[in-house]
Amino acid sequence: MKKVQFTETVLRDAQQSLIATRMPFEVFEPALSTLDSAGYYSLECWGGATFDSCLRYLDEDPWERLRKIRKACPNSKLQMLLRGQNLLGYKHYPDDVVRLFVKKSVENGIDIIRIFDALNDLRNIQVAVDETVKNGATASGTICYTTSPVHTLDQFVKIAKELENMGVQTICIKDMAGIMSPKEAYELVKAIKENVKLPVIVHTHSTTGLGYMTLLKAVEAGADVVDTAVSCFSTGTSQPATETMRYVFEQYGYDTGLDIEKVNKVNSIFKPYRNECLKSGLENPISMSTDTDALNYQIPGGMLSNLIKQLTDMKKLDKLDEVLTETPKVRADLGYPPLVTPMSQMVGAQAMLNVMSGERYKTVSNEVKAYLKGEYGKAPGTVNADLQKKVLGDEKPITCRFADTLKPGLPEVKEKYPDATDEEILSRICYPQQAETYYKKREEEKNRTYTYKIEKV
Ligand code: CO
Repeated sequence: MKKVQFTETVLRDAQQSLIATRMPFEVFEPALSTLDSAGYYSLECWGGATFDSCLRYLDEDPWERLRKIRKACPNSKLQMLLRGQNLLGYKHYPDDVVRLFVKKSVENGIDIIRIFDALNDLRNIQVAVDETVKNGATASGTICYTTSPVHTLDQFVKIAKELENMGVQTICIKDMAGIMSPKEAYELVKAIKENVKLPVIVHTHSTTGLGYMTLLKAVEAGADVVDTAVSCFSTGTSQPATETMRYVFEQYGYDTGLDIEKVNKVNSIFKPYRNECLKSGLENPISMSTDTDALNYQIPGGMLSNLIKQLTDMKKLDKLDEVLTETPKVRADLGYPPLVTPMSQMVGAQAMLNVMSGERYKTVSNEVKAYLKGEYGKAPGTVNADLQKKVLGDEKPITCRFADTLKPGLPEVKEKYPDATDEEILSRICYPQQAETYYKKREEEKNRTYTYKIEKV
């Protein structure tokens, strides 16, 4: 029997795309045991923006969240998203930090690490892949899908072969903007399957309305696993719905392994919360609709909902169209980086600066400056030479892997916090400010409880 498996994204990408990653542990806790027995290939539940969001907005220790999910889902493969040398942050970390982060992620419960580099510069994922395999977890080597004059089918197949040679166990095609058409997905999956022996996983978003068709054609071409979200957190900037795709695949004679009653139960657990999010405005109906503009602008789900949120906060939502027009221009200037974190934020923020200041590149963000210096890796195309000259002056951009220029990152932080666990050290390195606030608060709470007990006696 033909077979296709599912990765459920409600705990990570779906909520990141629709409600800016604000779902607290208590909300999804009641769904965990059902998710665990519903027959998924994996549960994507950690990494991406969840780590930052836990510390910054939800007052949760991200490591503890992972351990709790692990405990509640003993039968499932837990999956995380990792930005290679960037880990979960926006800059490149030294190798010792990357290795410890991967090791601790696996120790705390992760089975599968989907590893990508925003520029598809594979030098930037090599260390994370190596450490993942070394720790007995599955390294899913990821191709960031995008369209541009410099991204071709042959180029993507070449990346897939390089990933296979690197030792990854699966290949993931990551279409973060939901711009991969059914035809492109069919051709790409087929070409990769013909050239590489590994299972192929397809990740897309429904932003442009292509997602459902794209997954169907990808599976027809031989894709082994698809990413979907339980229906009440599906569609729009999120993934296609789990229930719908299962329905279609079963009609075509695929064994999906999913227990539909359990998936329905999961959906009924999340539905009241989804309704609350709509009522409170946390979920913007714009994110749930189909936006074909993204076929031109190539704005990923998370980026689009963030831009809308930022412009709404600034009471400048009327500038949205201008920002969306400026975005591809900035992207071309930077040599067509795929619009995925952190490039999506970088390009989006620079486009906002260019529109708000009324003059292009009047102000250049530090991130774009670092990018032009070569600190993020090799651009897929050619960067705008005038812009590079304006920013760098006579300084030459680097050509080596940026992490090779960094000294080890652990000793200094370990010396500063001698009593901290490895997990706390890593939180402090990745998100220094948020971690400081979080751990300080936790310390204060501990002391408060203590005083209270004394008074009671
Ligand atoms: Co995504």
